[in-house]
Amino acid sequence: MENIVKNQKKFIDKVKKLNENIKKYYNILTMGCQLNENDSEKLAGMLEEMGYESTEDLNLASVYILNTCCVRENAEEKLFGKLGELKKLKYQNNGIIAVCGCMMQEKHIQDKLKNSYPYVDIIFGTHTLQNFPEDLYNSIIGKKKVKDILDIDGEIYEGLPIKRNSNKTASVTIMYGCNNFCSYCIVPYVRGRERSRKPEDILKEINNLAKEGYKEVTLLGQNVNSYKGREDYGFAELLRDVQKIEGIEIIKFVSPHPKDFTDDVIAAIKDCNKVSRLLHLPLQSGSTEVLKKMNRKYTKEQYLKLVDKIKAQIPDVLFSTDIIVGFPEETEQDFEDTLDVVRKVNFEQIFMFIYSRRVGTVADKMKNQIPEDIKHERFDRLKNLFEEQVVLNNEKYIGTTQKILVEGVSKNNSKMLTGRTDSNKVVVFEGSQNLIGNVINLKIISEHKWYLKGEKKFP
Ligand code: SAH
Ligand code: SF4
Ligand code: F3S
Repeated sequence: MENIVKNQKKFIDKVKKLNENIKKYYNILTMGCQLNENDSEKLAGMLEEMGYESTEDLNLASVYILNTCCVRENAEEKLFGKLGELKKLKYQNNGIIAVCGCMMQEKHIQDKLKNSYPYVDIIFGTHTLQNFPEDLYNSIIGKKKVKDILDIDGEIYEGLPIKRNSNKTASVTIMYGCNNFCSYCIVPYVRGRERSRKPEDILKEINNLAKEGYKEVTLLGQNVNSYKGREDYGFAELLRDVQKIEGIEIIKFVSPHPKDFTDDVIAAIKDCNKVSRLLHLPLQSGSTEVLKKMNRKYTKEQYLKLVDKIKAQIPDVLFSTDIIVGFPEETEQDFEDTLDVVRKVNFEQIFMFIYSRRVGTVADKMKNQIPEDIKHERFDRLKNLFEEQVVLNNEKYIGTTQKILVEGVSKNNSKMLTGRTDSNKVVVFEGSQNLIGNVINLKIISEHKWYLKGEKKFP
């Protein structure tokens, strides 16, 4: 593995040489989840080492990267729209268009790009990110199309350059792929089987982040709590080791699967005070019947029991979740079960999705697909219920003291700062800019549905 990374360094140097004395810029558009964002940070790291600088100005850029997602249909519309936009710019700037990410692992998309978008220069998939310097070099020198896609599971490459989006909070991918094959989901087909990084590599990365001044880390994986670093070292052990790293104050993780929320993981969260008390626990549906068809491996009752068990161990815990409405064959009663779980758990945050058919998945072949109008009607009902709960939840914050990571100046009012509570609520407050990047205590004084107002406590 190391040899491959070393070999790519040679290509980094070769491209750098081509760029000597010329200022060149790149632009990366990332669609999709935090794993894709983390991959983009690695691509940015490689490009910076090759002498490119980042720009938001597409007229200035000569390397355009579109890092794609295919989890829902609208992601595809976005890609093809964007490609249309880039066509003219590419010829104007003698630029290179590279398309990568999850969608590139789908054969029908590869064909569509080949047939309808001949001006795309490089396409590469989720298992070949590390080859990007070589692919870019070949495209510049050879002036030919490069296709670099592997269907087999990729290896894990350590030591790739990285340029992070933030200097306060960092994402660390701890495992790749997914073995769950939920019947609606394309991810296992485009990201391959589960592979975990070695504990020592992860801890080294986080130790370095702490030295660089990062206060918050988010551990990432499609199924993050099925992490297995060694036979005797799983997600619970990793949390306990990250807790020990001095300088890191907040530890988050996404996305866990309810079935892997084992007792040792709950105990580790309880013992580690740096681990965020807002836990993401994807529900997907509240109906046992639908959950079975989704291949989620738990029932409505088991999910609620798990929530109760975690609450009993960790009294200040809060939950966020993902819910899909309009899964094939979902009845009114099934949907009512989802609303019932939402009422019972009282989630802090719900990421709501309308079911989207994905080619190649089991659910796509199910007969009774739900009509669009019913899907939308259910989506709105779920949204209304959640919004009622948000206001009630917010009221509970008033008068409490909250630990806040200060993120920056408020977009709507330059005199105010903004930050987030441990439970991910936006808090706006008055304070001096040198607080940015610090974790401070604030008293919450009022609620405004999508944000809270806080006051700095003076000792
Ligand atoms: N591995 C994570 C995240 C997967 S993708 C997890 O299991 O939680 C993020 C979310 O997108 C999923 O949780 C699911 O709610 C949603 N999703 C996935 N496939 C979908 C589809 N075909 N239609 C609508 N939503 C989908
Ligand atoms: Fe998709 Fe399920 Fe895997 Fe999440 S756990 S990525 S929803 S197959
Ligand atoms: Fe999308 Fe790929 Fe993430 S399909 S959700 S970018 S793993």
